[in-house]
Amino acid sequence: MNILRGAAIVAATSVLLLGSTGSILATGDEEENREIGDYEFSSGSPDFVHGVPTNPEEAWTLAIGGRIYDNWWVALDVAEPRGTHPSYPEVGQKSGPATWRCKTCHGWDFLGSEGIYSEGSSNYTGIGGIRAAQGRSVEQIAATLRDSTHLYTTDMISDEQLGRIAAFVSRGQIDVAKYVDLETRQMIAGDINRGRGIFQTVCAACHGYDGRLLDWGDGESSNFVGTEASELPDEVLHKVLSSHPGAAMINLRAFPVDYSVDVVAYAATLPID
Ligand code: HEC
Ligand code: HEC
Repeated sequence: MNILRGAAIVAATSVLLLGSTGSILATGDEEENREIGDYEFSSGSPDFVHGVPTNPEEAWTLAIGGRIYDNWWVALDVAEPRGTHPSYPEVGQKSGPATWRCKTCHGWDFLGSEGIYSEGSSNYTGIGGIRAAQGRSVEQIAATLRDSTHLYTTDMISDEQLGRIAAFVSRGQIDVAKYVDLETRQMIAGDINRGRGIFQTVCAACHGYDGRLLDWGDGESSNFVGTEASELPDEVLHKVLSSHPGAAMINLRAFPVDYSVDVVAYAATLPID
């Protein structure tokens, strides 16, 4: 940061302190010294969990798309759907709002019943995956999500957000089978040492070095990063690439996917209880 920019920030701060009663007109001096950034002249919506950046990059779009795929009503802060999804089949063992999540029918591996949610799994539905939709136009995918199979209304997922989940389907899917054994559900890829480095410097800020600082268990049993990564690495991989919906959690979408694979491989070695 150069000195001029520092001065501009001090000036901008005093403008903020003046609030709505003070003048928000910048003096000529400030205007000259300012470098134009995304937030210099706009209010934006800076909340990380539910906000939208003023100038979204592809990585951000795919990460929110991934969170919508995970759980759209928590990701978008809209009303939870009521009842079981009409297209959720008899053969399935789930019911209620969970059946409205993309992942419930299509899986964390995007392979539906051809992947981890195959026959015999408690998540089996017989519904196929979405891998074939990779590369399809966003308009076409968005139309699919408004069809009589999917039934997503604009109150549930607005047109703007629908474009993001469609972008995720088209451009954000990864080939999970390269990283996770679909039979044993164990990591089969990843550099654990590099993953340790990422965990210790990024994840540990919130989850602790042993991954036990946050516990989303049900009270009877604990659920830590280590627990989930060793049992459901495909799900953790998805959350590392997109964040956990509704949580102020970072994601690694802006980096090569290998980094996410490495950190999940390391997380699977952490304490599980
Ligand atoms: C209740 C179950 C269910 C839910 C929830 C669901 N889908 Fe589907 N989806 C289906 C069915 C059934 C099909 C039809 C084809 C099949 O059997 O694979 C389908 C097809 C698709 C296709 C086309 C696949 C292709 O190869 O042409 C895409 C893309 C898709 N879904 C995306 C999504 C997304 C994104 C969400 C969440 C916003 C979602 N689905 C939620 C049941 C579901
Ligand atoms: C800025 C804080 C923060 C950072 C950094 C962070 N997380 Fe999280 N993470 C959270 C919060 C908050 C939750 C929600 C916990 C809850 O639901 O109780 C969460 C939830 C999770 C979950 C559980 C999701 C579920 O299924 O309920 C996993 C797995 C996870 N984080 C892994 C990671 C990994 C791996 C990293 C590093 C790449 C990481 N997190 C970095 C804050 C963070």
